[in-house]
Amino acid sequence: MTETRKQLLQELAAKNGTPLFVVDHEVLRNNFKEFREKLPDVQPYFAVKANSNPEIIKTMFDLGSSFDVASIYEFKLIYKNIETWPDKERQDFIWDKIIYANTIKPFKVLTKLNPYKILVTFDNIEELKKIKQRAPDVGLILRIRVPNTGSMVELSSKFGAHPGEAVDLIAEAIGMGLDVEGISFHVGSQCNNFDNYLQGLNFTHSILKEVALRNFEIGFTDKEGKKKKVLDIGGGFPVKYTPDVKSFSALAKKLNLEIKRLFGKDNIQVIAEPGRFMVATACTLVTKIIGKSIRDGKTCYYLDDGVYHTFSGQVYDHQHYPLHAFKDGELKLCATFGPTCDAFDTISLADELPEDLQIDDLLYAENIGAYTLASATDFNGFPVAKVAHINRENI
Ligand SMILES: Cc1ncc(COP(=O)(O)O)c(C=O)c1O
Repeated sequence: MTETRKQLLQELAAKNGTPLFVVDHEVLRNNFKEFREKLPDVQPYFAVKANSNPEIIKTMFDLGSSFDVASIYEFKLIYKNIETWPDKERQDFIWDKIIYANTIKPFKVLTKLNPYKILVTFDNIEELKKIKQRAPDVGLILRIRVPNTGSMVELSSKFGAHPGEAVDLIAEAIGMGLDVEGISFHVGSQCNNFDNYLQGLNFTHSILKEVALRNFEIGFTDKEGKKKKVLDIGGGFPVKYTPDVKSFSALAKKLNLEIKRLFGKDNIQVIAEPGRFMVATACTLVTKIIGKSIRDGKTCYYLDDGVYHTFSGQVYDHQHYPLHAFKDGELKLCATFGPTCDAFDTISLADELPEDLQIDDLLYAENIGAYTLASATDFNGFPVAKVAHINRENI
């Protein structure tokens, strides 16, 4: 990190207090642009669950992103941006801009979603029956199960129909008079094994072939009147937290080639649901040392943020966010703890920090934007971090 950036973070912390979650909108814009440049035929639906901060959503919205939502709360966060638009534009917006990508939806959510022209995912027959009852007008995307091997966060044990059941589920939906628009999969989050994507694409190709053989009509009519099927390649795009993570560029190259090979001649609308890729590198946490002790010869720092708060990503997302000091000093192995009364609130037993840091000194952790603030609680009465924004204007 540059000295100028360190200076800025310290100034922001002095002004706003700590813990402080700093969002750099220039990085958000760069991440979005990189995604669009490297996957030019794929429309990103930003997965709001990764970080639902309204200012982040606003920037993504201004950039032309679409959105993946998983609850009515998230749906409303997006819808808020367009409430004042004319009806027609709003309907088109919903169609192009929002996928409700939670395969399980309570009845009352379905009832709320039905008036909107929206895409929703499903992966089982019971869900289809619910949709038929409460939301027969939505567009359906069948989520299939694909290998998640080598991904940091596994999703396939909970979501996705077995590819062998896919065509029968599509037949059931069509039999109920519902609209099936396409197929989705998710390779698992922070995917470092690109074969997962290739398997997902190949499963989808086989399913669509059989759908055609059995003369099932799926897909939607686009604005030019063309019939198209949706191919939703999900999320999972990896972030280089550590040097061993493979590059997004390498993945994009493979995806472009395989999508062209398998679907080049079909009318396909390819979409994706990147969450982590957009926000992880855009955010830095500034936290303060509120206590210090020596235990068994090791320096222990107690901070005003911990695993019940921004560092919750350690628990739910299996990531680590190494802490750094603003002050120089010889690095020693230290333990870092959060502020709560629970020993589980241990950030690390092996952070590398100077051992002569004092109470009130500040530390920072980078690449902490995804699945962190989103899962922070106020356990023990310690509030979640405040949020500060930099480089917000000018797309
Ligand atoms: C359905 C769905 N789509 C998209 C995402 C975002 O994935 P990622 O952050 O790996 O891009 C997730 C993450 O859990 C998900 O469950």
